Amino acid sequence: MSKAEESDIMTQQESKRIDEAWNVTITSVRFEHHRDALGVGEARPRLSWTIAALAAEWYQASYEMEAYGSDGRLRERTERIESDQSVLVPWPFVPLLSRECLAVRVRVWGVDGQPSAWSAPALVEAGLLSPPEWTAHFVTPDWEEDTSRSQPAPLLRHEFAVHAGVAKARLYVTALGVYEAYLNGVTVGDSVLDPGWTSYDHRLCYQTFDVTGLLHEGCNALGAMLGDGWYRGRLGLEGGRRNTYGDRLALLAHLEIDYADGTSERIVTEETWRASHGPVLASDLYDGETYDARLERPGWSKPAYDDHDWVGVRRIERNLATLVAPSGPPVRRTELVVPIAITISPSGRTIIDFGQNLVGRLRLTVQGEVGQTITLRHAEVLERGELCTRPLRTALATDRYTLRGDGVETWEPRFTFHGFRYAEVEGWPGDVQADAIRAVVCHSDLERTGWFECSEPLLNQLYENVVWSMRGNFLSIPTDCPQRDERLGWTGDIQVFAPTACFLYDSAGFLTSWLADLAAEQNAAGGVVPFVVPNVLPTLPIPAAAWGDAAVIVPWVLYQRYSDDGILMAQFESMRAWVDRIEKLAGESHLWNTGFQFGDWLDPSAPPDRPGDARTDPHVVATAYFARSAELLGQAAGVLGRTEEEARYLRLAARVREAFDAEYVTPAGRVLSDTETAYALALQFGLLKNDEQRRHAGQRLVELVRSNGYHIGTGFVGTPLICDALCSVGEDNAAFHLLMQRACPSWLYPVTMGATTIWERWDSLLPDGSVNPGDMTSFNHYALGAVADWLHRTVGGLAPAAPGYRHLAVRPQPGGGLTSARVRHLTPYGLAECAWTIEAGYIEVVVVVPPNTTASVTLPGSDAIPIEVSSGTHRWAYPYQGPSHPPRSLDSTLDELIDDPEAWNAVVRTIRQQLSGLARHTDISTLMLQNSHMTLEQVLSLLPQADQLRLALKAVLAALGRSDIAQERIQ
Ligand code: BGC
Repeated sequence: MSKAEESDIMTQQESKRIDEAWNVTITSVRFEHHRDALGVGEARPRLSWTIAALAAEWYQASYEMEAYGSDGRLRERTERIESDQSVLVPWPFVPLLSRECLAVRVRVWGVDGQPSAWSAPALVEAGLLSPPEWTAHFVTPDWEEDTSRSQPAPLLRHEFAVHAGVAKARLYVTALGVYEAYLNGVTVGDSVLDPGWTSYDHRLCYQTFDVTGLLHEGCNALGAMLGDGWYRGRLGLEGGRRNTYGDRLALLAHLEIDYADGTSERIVTEETWRASHGPVLASDLYDGETYDARLERPGWSKPAYDDHDWVGVRRIERNLATLVAPSGPPVRRTELVVPIAITISPSGRTIIDFGQNLVGRLRLTVQGEVGQTITLRHAEVLERGELCTRPLRTALATDRYTLRGDGVETWEPRFTFHGFRYAEVEGWPGDVQADAIRAVVCHSDLERTGWFECSEPLLNQLYENVVWSMRGNFLSIPTDCPQRDERLGWTGDIQVFAPTACFLYDSAGFLTSWLADLAAEQNAAGGVVPFVVPNVLPTLPIPAAAWGDAAVIVPWVLYQRYSDDGILMAQFESMRAWVDRIEKLAGESHLWNTGFQFGDWLDPSAPPDRPGDARTDPHVVATAYFARSAELLGQAAGVLGRTEEEARYLRLAARVREAFDAEYVTPAGRVLSDTETAYALALQFGLLKNDEQRRHAGQRLVELVRSNGYHIGTGFVGTPLICDALCSVGEDNAAFHLLMQRACPSWLYPVTMGATTIWERWDSLLPDGSVNPGDMTSFNHYALGAVADWLHRTVGGLAPAAPGYRHLAVRPQPGGGLTSARVRHLTPYGLAECAWTIEAGYIEVVVVVPPNTTASVTLPGSDAIPIEVSSGTHRWAYPYQGPSHPPRSLDSTLDELIDDPEAWNAVVRTIRQQLSGLARHTDISTLMLQNSHMTLEQVLSLLPQADQLRLALKAVLAALGRSDIAQERIQ
């Protein structure tokens, strides 16, 4: 080997070396949005890297990249490329071929001319990039089944010889159904419920596994177990239906073995495979799994197993062009949760409490008699001490395990998942011990990227609930709920939650996949975005505002949060088709005022059985969203340099806004239907013509929020907007007041009721502890948790001011009595942070700006123009007087008191206590809200026992300790 060749080989030591002398190091190199770039579907994956710089004010001036082959030899090297881009930069090398593996390393130069060290090499390997690469065929067991009900899970197996010198082996595999693959008796990979759920008719994901270490010289065996899953299990609304995508389960497996001598071999599914039934007697996502361990076939996925009594398989034809590599991570087991209590219910049943509403399944470790069956039923809540399964509707959520009886047995179902906090166990040999049972949390294994905490424990719990609801509902696709007979990709839910999701976890790859499904389904429906994606509803899709607008808004959110203009490019046709479709519906009037709408779904005033009965006119919602989507489409066209479309859709948006204003807004700024949601839409979507209208609308919004006693008055549409709308008109205090409300309906009410996830309804659990009687009562729906995005941007103060947080808008807004808050986000450029603490009349604000980015910081209490800062850590400390309330007295008006939560709560509590008789018949706070212009003294004159009450009220107001005078008065 020549000297030159030698220098082109990246040595192990070199790649591992971390040179202390470097001031700038590259901490990660990524391909597209992959967490793990094995088996990627892109021949030209874009690259991103993050940088750690010892010095502040670091900006990139240029970068260089090298690609090495699996032999460690340099394949290609770029020039030094003058560019400040470090996120999703174009692939600079020749496109990857199928199976090709490269190690890429990057180094950068700062504007100071100093280079970084080379990054550690990052591996990327392409999957099978085109249909002809597959020599496998889908095979299905050659038997007949009664597919009107769940069938035993088939096992498929095949033996093959391997000779010495395996260099590399990859298993490319997928199924019609869900599968678990085994090689020589070992489970392949650590994902569950593969291949996940996509719009199977259009896109079916395959997985790529590195199985090099599982092969051995001689005879080997490859096996797979198949379950009904989304493919042919129960799916849909009103009980759903079976066989949505087909009635035969099938496996497609393609094992490629490369030998050190340069030869290779393929083992693929074909007619020589064998099939049999195994221990899984039935499996269904809604209903659970039934497993009889006596029917296990020890060694079935190992070589030398006697399969003479197995049956053959037959081919199933399917268009392999639908196969795609995943763009996000698979579903995995991410946590084990230990029971916090095991109790006996009033009716004598054993109930296990895991202390957390979660999504996954149970893992048992048990010893007992052969043939004994353990039954596990799951539920999110208890009612009167018993498992409450009514909210699950027809989902049985029941797993059954029949023991082998030969010692300690461990079991966890494979092909199902449940949403539960409680499990009822029946048939357990002896008493259930806490260490014998675990809840296994399962969801798409996204990287956590966002955190928020503050001085108010109830808010922290609310935040945790949002995180848990995201975990539970990001299982392969973004679902509405994870527990009842539904679990569908409701478009409206993710439309409102996407900004929060993108902050909490790296959701880019996950949502990119879902959007590809959305586009495919929409295309099949002539431009209409179905209510759910994948679309499994039997009815013809019809458009609905705020739901279908996911087609435009979700890609826009991804662009904003991840600086991914590729997603705009990929989705542009879908975005445009949606807006064009609505434009046609609206016609000349530019008002979308016909047809079905979900409207402000689950407005708290809607009766339990009519969740769409909102106070806001659904057509106000529809036209507002029409304007919003047209505007965002115009902006997206601008980003993509499609100038004609940019002009066309921005013009359309302006026309829709005019039409909205003419039809629904008075010249002074009152908006139909005079509800919080209507004003929030008008303010946040820029639907008002001038500042005067905005001012007036803002005032009216606060009036409404206040006269509602700072209880929430919005549903799915208004809730994500209300706090921003209030802040946009300078009413931060009102937003905080709404946020800190604990009485029903409010964000914190569920927390006070012990919620550990976000509920579907504001009152999924009623104040008396009973479950809401509506037949749509989930305890795990993320939509109303969209407020977390406001916590991040406003309370914490971290918002993107340029795509991908290249420029940060840092504007923390203390309020609500909070004395501290801290928000952190792993942006595409690295960790950004804002933390503030108020103590002893001072506020300290600490802001961390990632390398290669800048920030505009507006400090609390200052109206000054923002301070422009560069990368690094910045700290300010200065005297600070947070929002405070003056002393209150009997001369205070009820309006003044309402805006002062501490005083208001004290007054209402006192009146309730003193006049308990009256309080039994009348809601004291509503009564007071109806007379909010009166002073407390005037109210007293209308109440019985006024003298006694006056004394009590004086005492509680003085006890607020707002001034010395107050202290004096108490004596
Ligand atoms: C779902 C919602 C969804 C809604 C549409 C419900 O059944 O759970 O979250 O958006 O239907 O109206």
